Amino acid sequence: MSLSKSLAAAGTVAVLSLSLAACGGGAAPQAGGGGGQDCNVGISMPTRSLERWINDGEGLRSKLASAGCTVDLQYADNKTDQQISQIQNQVAGGSKILVVAAIDGAALAPVLAEAKKQDATVIAYDRLINGTEDVDYYATFDNYKVGQLQGQYVEETLKLKDGKGPFNLEAFAGSPDDNNAKFFFAGAWDVLYPYIQKGQLTVPSGKAPKSAAEWASIGVQGWASDKAQAEMDNRLSSFYGGGKKVDVVLSPNDSLAIGIEASLKSAGYKPGADYPIITGQDADKANVKAILAGEQSMTVWKDTRVLGEQVFKMVKSIADGQQPEVNDTKTYDNGKKVVPSYLLVPEVVTEDAVKSKLIDSGFLKSSDVGL
Ligand code: BGC
Repeated sequence: MSLSKSLAAAGTVAVLSLSLAACGGGAAPQAGGGGGQDCNVGISMPTRSLERWINDGEGLRSKLASAGCTVDLQYADNKTDQQISQIQNQVAGGSKILVVAAIDGAALAPVLAEAKKQDATVIAYDRLINGTEDVDYYATFDNYKVGQLQGQYVEETLKLKDGKGPFNLEAFAGSPDDNNAKFFFAGAWDVLYPYIQKGQLTVPSGKAPKSAAEWASIGVQGWASDKAQAEMDNRLSSFYGGGKKVDVVLSPNDSLAIGIEASLKSAGYKPGADYPIITGQDADKANVKAILAGEQSMTVWKDTRVLGEQVFKMVKSIADGQQPEVNDTKTYDNGKKVVPSYLLVPEVVTEDAVKSKLIDSGFLKSSDVGL
C-alpha cells in the first residue's frame, strides 16, 4: 500500500476538507470520522491473465500514485466472490473512490450498497455494473462501435455491399456475464445479419442467433481461449467435412481469436489465400504477432492509456468535489438508472498500421512483436 505524498505532508485540515469532498457535498464531515480521505482509491480489476487488464490496472495505479493518491490495486483471478471480498476490504480500508472492472456485471449490487454506506463514489471501468443505483459513473470505449468496426471490416473485405458471396461464417460472442459482450455482438450483428438473411453469408454450424438479443447462446464463458478453441474444433469437425472451408470468423476479442487460430492451425489452415478473415479486439502482443504472421486479419485497438487518463481525470474531479466530465447520458441503462458515461473511440488496426498506430504511439515496443 502506497501512502500518498500529499497525505503524508497534509495535516488535519486537509483530511477534514477531504472528507467533505468525499461526502459529495452537503453532508458535514464526521468528527474524526472513519478515515475519510481525499484521493483514496480502490481499483478492482478482473484478472491478470489478460494483458490488457495488467496494463489498465498498473497504468491507472501509477498515474494516481504520482498525483499523490493512496491506491489499492487488486486483481480477482476472474472469480466473482474474490472480487466482492476485495472490494469489501478496500472499503473497510478507507477507499472512498472505487474503480471497478466487474467480472460479473450483475453480481456487485450488494457490495456496492455497502460501499455507499461508507460514502464511496463508484466508477464502472470498461464494463458496466448492472442492477444497482450505486454506480455513479462509467468510463469505457464505445462498445457497440467495437463490434460495428469488426462487422464493417468483414463487410468491406468480402465486398458484401457489392453482392459478393456466399461465404461461410462462424460467429462467437464474449462472456455471457460481461455486459460489454452484448454490445460488441450487437454492433457486429447489425452489420452482418442482413447478409445472412440475403444468403451472402452462410453459417454451416447453424450458430447464428436470429437477433442480437440471443447473443449469449454463442457466448464463451470467461472469455477463455481454450473454450473458444474447443468450440471451433467442434464446429470444424462437425460441419466442415468434404473440403468445406471457413471464410470468416467473427471473434469479439483477441483472447478468443487466439483459441480460434490454434484450432484452425490444427485443422490444417495456413496463412494465405484460403485462410479465413478473423477479427479481434485489444491489440494484445500475441495477436499483433498473429496479424503480422497473417494468422489474424485485424484487431480493434482500445488504447488503455487513454481510458486510464479519462478515469484519472474522473477520480481527480470527484476527489476535488467536482462533477466529472461525461459525454453520454443515454446509452448505458443498467436496469436501475442510466449511468452517466464517458465513451472513447476505438480504432481498427490491420497489418499495415501496426507500426504507425501501435509502435509509434508507444503502446507496444517493436521488440514485443518481433519487428
Ligand atoms: C473488454 C475487452 C476484453 C474482454 C475480456 C471486455 O469487457 O472490454 O477489452 O477483451 O473483456 O477480458
